[in-house]
Amino acid sequence: SSAEPTLCGLPLKYISLVTLAVQNAALTLLMHYSRVSTPPSRAYSAASAVLATELLKGLISLVIAFTRVEDHSPQYTLALPSPLPQSHCATSALNPRVFLARCRILGKEVFRQDCWKLSIPAILYVIQNNLQFVAASNLEAATFQVSYQMKILTTAAFSVFLLRRKLSPLKWLALFFLALGVGIVQIQSGAARGLISSEASSDDVHTMVPFKGFVAVAAACFTSGLAGVYFEMVLKNSSGDLWVRNVQLSLFSLLPALVPVFLAPSPSPNAPAHSVPSITHLFANFTPWAWATVLTQVFGGLITALVIKYADNIMKGFATSLSIVISFLASVALFHFRITASFIVGASVVLAATWLYSQPDGKRVPFFRARRSS
Ligand code: C5P
Repeated sequence: SSAEPTLCGLPLKYISLVTLAVQNAALTLLMHYSRVSTPPSRAYSAASAVLATELLKGLISLVIAFTRVEDHSPQYTLALPSPLPQSHCATSALNPRVFLARCRILGKEVFRQDCWKLSIPAILYVIQNNLQFVAASNLEAATFQVSYQMKILTTAAFSVFLLRRKLSPLKWLALFFLALGVGIVQIQSGAARGLISSEASSDDVHTMVPFKGFVAVAAACFTSGLAGVYFEMVLKNSSGDLWVRNVQLSLFSLLPALVPVFLAPSPSPNAPAHSVPSITHLFANFTPWAWATVLTQVFGGLITALVIKYADNIMKGFATSLSIVISFLASVALFHFRITASFIVGASVVLAATWLYSQPDGKRVPFFRARRSS
């Protein structure tokens, strides 16, 4: 439609989808590498990483929401102190009176009556983000990436139940092939022994347990589908600015994100278990790779929100399928990932299923035009 937001003349929808594909591939590789490249005694806390991600995402969303108050709040001009001189600096956010008016409006919007709706996706996302670390620590990067595509299946199911989307038999067939492809990829996991830290001694080595990884992926796929569709439902069925919704999401994430921080054993052998961790303990063993993982997660969360708003969760699934190819090639180059026949067959089936899913029902129209034309 003509109101579709653009950036440099390109629809924001497609920019965000392509960016998400690249971000997904980068995150898979960074997360895997940051986990398996150090021995367990020097591993960083995944719970702290999730907490840091939520704090940063919330802060960035808060700043964006603050700068946009006049765009999304009809009461903004009413709330401005009067009389205001008609100069530019009078309406600038640096003017203390304007600053306070904005804070008041934003506070009201963030804590509006329906803000509790975000508590459900917030809790689900925190669980999912922790599970991702378990999966990435126990599976090859490419295997994790492909298995995680099962979230297309859960997303479709929740879109049908919660958003009342209709799926044609062709789309269900595509989803069946998707599940089949993921199954085929898993066959090779028995052969996939961990990427072992080369410097470590024999009993302080990161060993991957593929079964644990697959259980974590399956659970993460469930929460991904439910949380994504729930967030989409809140965004599209009620008023409210995307960035305000993101601030609410982050706020509700903080408490559940803190729980595993306190429950996890301290990374420092000298600290008593379950003691209140200090900031240095919280972020002990955070290598530059660990911080890169956190920042990529933050960026991914913000892009995901844009994709859910301007496209939808099912299209988001296609974008992340693209990242399979990117991370597969990178795994071969960086981690000496062994190419097995079942990986190639499984990954090809996943990609073919994704393509099939994107085919319009009925008469043939070009790929993207067929998706949400509104
Ligand atoms: O794997 P999936 O695409 O479901 O992951 C979504 C990611 O995006 C999660 O890490 C979640 O925390 C993040 N997200 C976010 N803000 C939103 C929606 C999702 O940070 N509004």
